[in-house]
Amino acid sequence: TPLTQQLNDLKNFQVIAHRGASGHAPESTLAAYELAHEWGVDYLELDAQLSADGEVVIFHDGTLERTSDGEGHIHDYTLAELKALDTGSWFHEANPEYADTDFSGTQILTLNELFDHFGQTTRYYIETKSPDLNPGLEEALVERLEAYDMINEGRVLVQSFDQQSLLKLQALNPNLPLIQLLWYSPSEQNSEQLVEWQNTTPGPSEINDADFQAIAEYAAGIGTNAIYQGNEVIDAAFIRQAQANGLSVHVYTINEPDEMQRLMALGANGLFTDYPDRLLELVE
Ligand code: G3P
Ligand code: CA
Repeated sequence: TPLTQQLNDLKNFQVIAHRGASGHAPESTLAAYELAHEWGVDYLELDAQLSADGEVVIFHDGTLERTSDGEGHIHDYTLAELKALDTGSWFHEANPEYADTDFSGTQILTLNELFDHFGQTTRYYIETKSPDLNPGLEEALVERLEAYDMINEGRVLVQSFDQQSLLKLQALNPNLPLIQLLWYSPSEQNSEQLVEWQNTTPGPSEINDADFQAIAEYAAGIGTNAIYQGNEVIDAAFIRQAQANGLSVHVYTINEPDEMQRLMALGANGLFTDYPDRLLELVE
């Protein structure tokens, strides 16, 4: 079946376009996803949140300031209010070398619009972002995935840092392939805030076989950072150990070709990148 094929493909190397080709065009916009799709990536990555009126929208931050001309918390606004914002112009100042007047006035994208645009011609790697701030996100997401037949067609992975969110998704649809996101932080630096970020999931360095097995009960893989405070924190042994427990290992967010090559050589099953063009060049 297509779903079996997708799970088999996860053993191979996957190029994951982080918020689209977000190094080249404003993140999470159609322009960024179109570029990545055109280049032939394996997955379009996106962060899903809910508008005040329950629409699933694609947006990374919990607040609007960085990547739009709005202000405040995204979930306080209805879709109509969010649609009035410009989510493209900020990119010109942040990335003058890639500035393009076409980006000005770009509207926020809904998940339905992304699916309507690309349909079954791509795969999607969807994060339930800040589930505590977006109650009902899992139900709304699964409802849309089922309506578009994305799960049985092997078109979607769902990722989260929040284990409870993943377990909720699994209860809603047991066939949905899941990825547990991890944030590595060395134990000696486990401030309360870092522990909170991890949502009680141990960081890679502290993970043992039993932890990997517990994740493998509900997930097909893990997504982890590679660098912590300038130090490389993922090694070949860690990757092998996860794989030996049946988990694919994806690493975020890798933009420099040297680092891409290093992680590919270590045996990672895929990388999240803002520059999928660079990664595709290395893969070919
Ligand atoms: O989803 C993998 C990676 O994107 C997690 O970090 O903050 O970019 O969503 P973030
Ligand atoms: Ca993400």
